[in-house]
Amino acid sequence: MTPLADPSADFRDRRVLITGGLGFIGSTLARRLVEAGARVRIVDSLIPEYGGNRFNIAGLEGRVEVNISDVRDAHSMRAHVRDQEFLFNLAGQTSHMDSMQDPFTDLDINCRAQLSILEACRQCNPTIKIVFASTRQLYGRPDYLPVDEKHLVRPVDVNGVNKAAGEWFHILYNNVYGLRACALRLTNTIGPRMRVKDARQTFVGIWVKRLVEGQPFEVWGGAQLRDFTYVDDAVDAFLLAASSEAANGGIFNLGGDRVVSLRDLAGILGSHGSREDAFVVREFPADRKVIDIGDYYSDFGAIRSALGWMPRVSLEEGLRRTVAYYREHLAHYL
Ligand SMILES: NC(=O)c1ccc[n+]([C@@H]2O[C@H](COP(=O)([O-])OP(=O)(O)OC[C@H]3O[C@@H](n4cnc5c(N)ncnc54)[C@H](O)[C@@H]3O)[C@@H](O)[C@H]2O)c1
Repeated sequence: MTPLADPSADFRDRRVLITGGLGFIGSTLARRLVEAGARVRIVDSLIPEYGGNRFNIAGLEGRVEVNISDVRDAHSMRAHVRDQEFLFNLAGQTSHMDSMQDPFTDLDINCRAQLSILEACRQCNPTIKIVFASTRQLYGRPDYLPVDEKHLVRPVDVNGVNKAAGEWFHILYNNVYGLRACALRLTNTIGPRMRVKDARQTFVGIWVKRLVEGQPFEVWGGAQLRDFTYVDDAVDAFLLAASSEAANGGIFNLGGDRVVSLRDLAGILGSHGSREDAFVVREFPADRKVIDIGDYYSDFGAIRSALGWMPRVSLEEGLRRTVAYYREHLAHYL
């Protein structure tokens, strides 16, 4: 592939706030920005069940400011957004199952807190540029494939409803108040630093953990089609969206280099393991099936045309790097 100019190059000495910056994608973004010479502040609540982990920023000590606070605290968010040039807004409750069992926590974090972050920006820093981490979950079960941004938003779980509201608050504030904001609808994102402890956030996490531990992992169903974005590619998209005035008010799908069934994905991952029977295929558990979206893969033509983004790391290479990372660092993620 043709080399892409490094989109982090524009961020030297820029003041950047990352909510959810101790999580999987936020910390990878923080690393890129610190390396590029940006002045990065992380706000993260480190709620134990979520994906935040101090080890995610190991090696950056003294080069990044970390503030353990909660985006639901409107008072502290006003102080945090003041004087920042960019806000990468990634803090979120990300478990679909948790959003069904505890819908009000999901509502508070993914919906209400998003509105108060935007109010803080409107009142204290109206020139800030915001990129919001949205999700393909808000499309629900696709009517057609690949899914483009014109597809109906019809979530199948509470998390999808609240993320949709959070996303649209950003677009609304862009359109009504001129607060420059855009949203990226991420698909399954994989890579080093994702939560692997259990299947709470992503099934790929628990698959990787089991593989590295030499245990078989479970594939539920197996025929479902998915696309996957490697985390460095997702970070490129955040940086490109932040740098571009053309992105303001936009909603963009991210996607992967190919479409794969979960069974084939398991086969690729299993090839990195030490045992023949790397995985077993099981029936989909009933409580998950009702919120399952079936097949999904996205059309990312809009962000390719507008910002020149495309996935650059193949699924095989992304899985290889992920497994290599957890072979070395699994103990920090248990
Ligand atoms: N990883 C994916 O496949 C994926 C797919 C679609 C959308 N997204 C979105 O991308 C964003 C980042 O996801 P991730 O995979 O890095 O998840 P993650 O759980 O690793 O990171 C989220 C971070 O937000 C923090 N956080 C949660 N609630 C908070 C609160 N109330 N106040 C402050 N911090 C809080 C967590 O501690 C965690 O560090 C999320 O908003 C998620 O909805 C991710």
